[in-house]
Formats: sequence, structure tokens, C-alpha cells
Amino acid sequence: MSKKPTIAVTGGAGFIGSHTVVQLVEAGYEVVIIDNLSRSDRTMLDGISRITKTTVPFYEVDCTDPKALDKVFLENSFDAVIHFAAYKAVGESVSMPLDYYENNILSLTTLLRVMNKHAVRSLIFSSSCTVYGEPDMVPVTEQSPIKLANSPYGATKQMCERILEDAKVYGIQAVSLRYFNPIGAHPSGLLGELPIGVPNNLVPFITQSAAGVRGSLTIFGNDYQTPDGTCIRDYIHVVDLADAHVRAFDFIRQQEEASGFHVFNVGTGRGVTVLEVVKEFEEVNKVKLNYSFGPKRPGDIEKVFADPSKAFKSLMWRPKFSMKEALQHAWQWEKNFRKIEQ
Ligand code: WQD
Repeated sequence: MSKKPTIAVTGGAGFIGSHTVVQLVEAGYEVVIIDNLSRSDRTMLDGISRITKTTVPFYEVDCTDPKALDKVFLENSFDAVIHFAAYKAVGESVSMPLDYYENNILSLTTLLRVMNKHAVRSLIFSSSCTVYGEPDMVPVTEQSPIKLANSPYGATKQMCERILEDAKVYGIQAVSLRYFNPIGAHPSGLLGELPIGVPNNLVPFITQSAAGVRGSLTIFGNDYQTPDGTCIRDYIHVVDLADAHVRAFDFIRQQEEASGFHVFNVGTGRGVTVLEVVKEFEEVNKVKLNYSFGPKRPGDIEKVFADPSKAFKSLMWRPKFSMKEALQHAWQWEKNFRKIEQ
């Protein structure tokens, strides 16, 4: 019986990381979670265990700590790493740029040095459509120009991709997945998004507002050049996004070259306005949301959505869930977490 590949998942207690851990375990991989719990908590680890019926090994380690990270690699024999560990709020990054540059860049360079020392060559990187800045044309393809990022968050993702491209000299085979807007929760209702503090992102704010945990939703700007004046994004179910990581690992294993750098847009290909999300949430969950329109948010772009055809073709991946299902799953998770009956 050949040894099952073992994958280290940094940031594996986070929203996308935890859902990816579940999909990896269910796909038959051994997984080890590395997370400093600065933006997540052990609730996610319980959810992973309840869904997979296993206890995934967990190291409470900061990826910017070379000694601690080296120890994890000494104790395990990894075939690949999926690197989620980073700060990721566009709006927040505008107000605390140094935290974003230090954490997001240093965690990657520290990880790459430790990988190199232990001859771990395969890396899947959590990137973002924010690398495109305000695109001239939508949908965006992987060849769309990389413009000046609108936020320090987007700038860190651009720099990290450049670092990975140059890391080919160390024999690194890297896949960068440019996420669009991940939403939803695991269909079981046992795992979902658990932002620390007031949610920056739209859907967790909506579910917390609907649960009475937050006040009414403010829609940031309704005079954009879009059909209803609100911003357009490409909302993708978090489990579909998690599956793309499993496919990306299969893709890396099929590469003949010793090293390389590959980029894929991971979105649905459908652009949706903020107001459409709000109305769909109300309709599918039979919930009335309180909302009002406020000023535009610094760092926001008007419209971005993916041309995901390269991922469809090369990763043999396609999203399976609709936005309706994502909004149902998000609300189910919120109700379960807050123990709301309705
Ligand atoms: C979406 C829309 C807001 C909150 C996210 C992640 C980033 C990256 C890209 C992965 C915008 C509006 C929001 C609110 C609102 N993903 N909004 N009221 O900014 O597109 O970025 O996806 O890497 O990591 O942060 O997502 O959910 O913050 O905003 O009107 O209370 O909802 O203005 O138009 P964003 P978001």
C-alpha cells in the first residue's frame, strides 16, 4: 500500500483553509494543520473533526517563526504545502498596511526557506482577484494586466506571486489560485465562516445582521456604473473553492518539469451586484434584511468577475454549487452557530 500523500495546510483553521482540509481528508490525503489562531479559533477544528470523523494533527505555529515552522517539518514528511496563512481584509489593509506587508510577505518567504531546507517542492498559494486592481475589462483572464493594486492586501498578493515565480530556482513547483469572492459554508452546517469581530466581508455581515448579532447592513455605494449602482463581484461557494485546491495538487503531480509557476482564476464566471446578493438572501432564506446605502468604501473596485475557463480546462474543475445554495448554507451555519431555531 503506497503512503498517502501528506499535505501541510497553513491557515488551515481559517474559513477557506478549514473547508479545504475537509475536502483533502475526504479525497484520501493525510493533512497537518499549521495555524497561529490569530484570525481563527479552535471551533473550526471541532467542525473539521465532526465532519471527517478524524482528528487532523494541528500545530499552533506562526508561519513567520522559522524555528517553530522548521520543527513541524522535522516531525512530518510533507509532499506539498497549501499556504492560506495571511491577513485578507481589503478595507482593513488600507488602515494597517505594515501589518499586512510584514505578515503576508514574511510568512511566505519563511515558509519557502523551510520547504527548501526539507526538500518540499510543491506549493499551492492562496492568491486573489485583487491582483488585477480595477480591471479595464471584465471578465478577467489570467492574462489580464496586473495593475497597481487598490489596497495593501492586493499588493501583498502581487508580491507573493512574484516571489513564487522567482522561487523556481529552488525547484519550487507552485500553483497560485486567484480567488474571487468565497461565500457560504459546508452543507452539513457544521463548518462555516467565523470572522473575529465585526465582519469586513458582505455575506458574514448579512448573516450576522439577520441573526440580530449586528445592526442593519450598510451597502457601500449605490452610484457605481452598474445596473443597480452597487458593486459587482464573482461569489463562489467555499466548498467549490476548496475542491479547486485538491485539483491543483493533482495538476502539480502531473507536471514533468522540476519547477514552475502556474496561475488560475477560481471563480464562477458570473458577476453579481451587492443588491442582488441581498435580495437573493432574503428570498432564499425567507428573511427580511435591514439595509441602507452609505458612502463608497476606500479600496473597493467597481466590478470584477472571472473568466475561469483555464481552471475548467487544466484543473478539470468546475463549481457545482449555485449562489442560492451558498446563501442557504451560510444562513444555516449562522443559525446553527447561534443556536437559532427558525
Ligand atoms: C464585497 C462587496 C463591498 C461589506 C474579498 C476579500 C478578499 C478577496 C476578494 C480572496 C463590496 C460590499 C461589503 C458591507 C458592503 N478574496 N460590502 N457592505 O472587498 O470584494 O474582497 O474578496 O482573496 O480577500 O476580502 O469582499 O465581501 O468585503 O465586499 O456593501 O458591510 O460588498 O463594498 O462591493 P471584497 P467584501
